[in-house]
Amino acid sequence: MAPLTGSRFHVAGELRVPGDKSISHRALICSALASGPSRVSAILPSADVHSTAGVLRALGVSIPPLGPSIEIQGVGVQGLRAPSVDLDCGNSGTSARLLSGIVAGAGLRGRFVGDASLSRRPMRRVQGPLEAMGASVTPSASGGLPMVVEGGSLTDIEWNNETSSAQVKSCILLAALCGGVEATVREPTRSRDHTERMFAAHGVEVWVNDDAVLLPGGQSLSPLDLEVPGDPSSASFFAALAALAPQGELRLADVCVNETRTGFLAALARMGSDVSLDDKVQRHGEWVASVNVRGGRTLRGITIPPAAIPTLIDELPLLACLGAYAEGETRVTGAAELRVKESDRITAVVSNLRGLGAQAEELEDGFVVHGTQPRLRGSVVTHGDHRLAMAFGILATLPGNEIAIDDRDCVAVSYPSFWSDLVKVVQ
Ligand code: S3P
Repeated sequence: MAPLTGSRFHVAGELRVPGDKSISHRALICSALASGPSRVSAILPSADVHSTAGVLRALGVSIPPLGPSIEIQGVGVQGLRAPSVDLDCGNSGTSARLLSGIVAGAGLRGRFVGDASLSRRPMRRVQGPLEAMGASVTPSASGGLPMVVEGGSLTDIEWNNETSSAQVKSCILLAALCGGVEATVREPTRSRDHTERMFAAHGVEVWVNDDAVLLPGGQSLSPLDLEVPGDPSSASFFAALAALAPQGELRLADVCVNETRTGFLAALARMGSDVSLDDKVQRHGEWVASVNVRGGRTLRGITIPPAAIPTLIDELPLLACLGAYAEGETRVTGAAELRVKESDRITAVVSNLRGLGAQAEELEDGFVVHGTQPRLRGSVVTHGDHRLAMAFGILATLPGNEIAIDDRDCVAVSYPSFWSDLVKVVQ
């Protein structure tokens, strides 16, 4: 299959995508838990991160408006206050799950609420470990939000997570840190490890190996002085677009290339794209680099091994979209978690691809896309899911496609400037 052609279509230049969402949540939380002033620059000012800021404010922490460089007066665990309002997490699963650990560990009582999508997402996965530590957690009858968390004096925990989840792992680690107890968390494959890295970079001893994390008890965080690197999940949309273009080279500057997050870039390279990293440095415990992607290569379909799923979990809808333009079959299994993200991303991505004229099938725990390099026409139903809007936004940019997206504004959850950045790189 030849690279896409289109009159003068090329993707080029340099882009610095906004700060990493996972690190931004953790930067706010860790700054609040440290005693004294922290400085955080390049934090992501997206709806999800605003939700975390809002909950921390409700817990008595004075978080300033999210600007390019902010100073946060940490109050320490003892300085957190019982909230007098519901803890509104909006659309953000990371806010709900990580902050439930804080409320439990600090011995507070809080009622977590969220929008319709978040209210449907499973919370028993944090109820289990938090109750094993001695907190009381009451999700809704269907296991979602609203969820009341009531902390107390917690005990040490050894927890085996059946499914790899950084949100659950981080919930446990934060509860243990706040409660002053020891935690060991095991998971089938290592999920993103930003919490562990941020702890280690700010005075908290944490031991890690391939499948377990151990946090000794009785520790506290030092204030942060942190620059949030660019979000690799946001960068992936542009990396995919550059790979699909018949010409041009795009440089994505200052991207977090933590190896628990680079599965999509690795997949893109395996598909035959020209992807390279340079200027790789370690900053505040995280690896950061510039990512260069050159267009004009023929892409081929690949199979993603289940063990790699955590490294590209949020990029799988994009991978499915890319698969439509790759020779042969692109197959993903072991990704049932996609069904409980902001939408059921397996059904949503497959039905949208099919509706536009591509060939794709659902599997119980993944999907298969048959690359036919189609001309796609029709409307995309995003279900308010930001990653679907952006993945199909990339396809909508390809010459020859005529794709309307029902809710372009939902990108505000993770990447408010997505559409304007897209215009900057397409020439
Ligand atoms: C996140 C972890 C992942 C990811 C989510 C952000 C985090 O979720 O999908 O977008 O910041 O910890 P799971 O932990 O549920 O896999």
